[in-house]
Amino acid sequence: MTGAHEIGESVRRWRNDTPGCAGRIHLNNAGAALMPQPVIDAIKAHLELEISLGGYEAADSAQKEIVSTYESVAQLIGTHAGNIAVVENATVATAQALSSIPFEAGDIVLTTRQDYVSNQLMLLNLAKRLGIRIERADDLPDGGVDPDSVNSLIQNRRPKCVLMTWIPTNSGLVQNARAIGEICAGAEVPFILDACQAVGQLPVDVESLNCDFLAATARKFLRGPRGVGFLYVSDRMLKRGACPLFPDLHGAEWLGPDSYRPVENARCFENWEFAYALLLGLGAAARYTLDVGIDRGWKRSGYLAKTVREKLSELDGIRLLDRGQVQCAIVSAEIQGRDAGDIVKALQDRGINTSTIVREHAIIDMDEKSARTALRISPHYYNTTKEIDDCIAALTEVLTRCGEVGKG
Ligand SMILES: Cc1ncc(COP(=O)(O)O)c(C=O)c1O
Repeated sequence: MTGAHEIGESVRRWRNDTPGCAGRIHLNNAGAALMPQPVIDAIKAHLELEISLGGYEAADSAQKEIVSTYESVAQLIGTHAGNIAVVENATVATAQALSSIPFEAGDIVLTTRQDYVSNQLMLLNLAKRLGIRIERADDLPDGGVDPDSVNSLIQNRRPKCVLMTWIPTNSGLVQNARAIGEICAGAEVPFILDACQAVGQLPVDVESLNCDFLAATARKFLRGPRGVGFLYVSDRMLKRGACPLFPDLHGAEWLGPDSYRPVENARCFENWEFAYALLLGLGAAARYTLDVGIDRGWKRSGYLAKTVREKLSELDGIRLLDRGQVQCAIVSAEIQGRDAGDIVKALQDRGINTSTIVREHAIIDMDEKSARTALRISPHYYNTTKEIDDCIAALTEVLTRCGEVGKG
């Protein structure tokens, strides 16, 4: 291959490692990325072991690999294996973290205007059940939470914790998590960070983020399997005896009829029952990401997203919705006069995976942008510029066919 679409040796290798690249153009990495072969192999090998040995016996025989999963995930985010709890997904990770905070009526949770829908629903339910109050910090004029607003709300309202989504599900915005972490640490307010769209996409270092909890999932930019995620818990929280509201026999020890003791590391946030095949897939995904190089992946996916934005901006009838000083590999665009779901379906029929954003998944942000639906295109480092061009050509064809837009 030569010319504009020439791909380098690394991209070729990453694509060869990814069977899913052969059949489709996958630009839905913010939904679930394509798994590379080592992840697929780790999952399959453990399922085979469960088939031949039995589930419990297979887990016993995979102890070394299980330990290494915790080490690899820890390495990816700059911590230790004892600070990692493996859970089903990012939602469970956030719920476990929130459940460890001893809320009382009148307590304030400080969040942002860009927080993930399920996190908002959890807070609304806590408000209903326990009478907590939700405060949302202001945004900066060009998007993303304003650290000064967080700072003054912390000083004036003394929240019980701060819950923030680093990268929202519905746009390319990257909020300034580091600045918020620094403010929280200074005021000794627990900081829960939803890093679901960040882990695997950009460098994550929990020390410099100053977060107390970090929630993530395997299937997105980390390229792991569906159905598994993890929660980081800081030493600060563990020393304070943080424990989820509903520990099980894996997370705590029953000492007597009326007493129990949580285990002393992040495992107290786990449950006993595990999809071990998926856990091992998570470990393989973390190692694969480390091997690719997170800085390298971040640079390339960012470049591809910028290319998508540039090309979309050349089309009539398309309104780019991404805001913020730092933007990531999630491109969001409203297609005027069209439901984005129809466009996603038409692209899918042409072998191209993208996804739909609906207002109900990000009410505050979408209402501010006056958008009901949007197209989400999320490339990753293993995508190519040719795939981007093919996607834009297909989109142009779909829109022209519908008579809505032509080339600008
Ligand atoms: C920002 C963000 N947070 C949390 C989640 C929830 O992740 P999970 O489905 O793994 O629970 C998502 C899923 O799209 C997300 O985009």
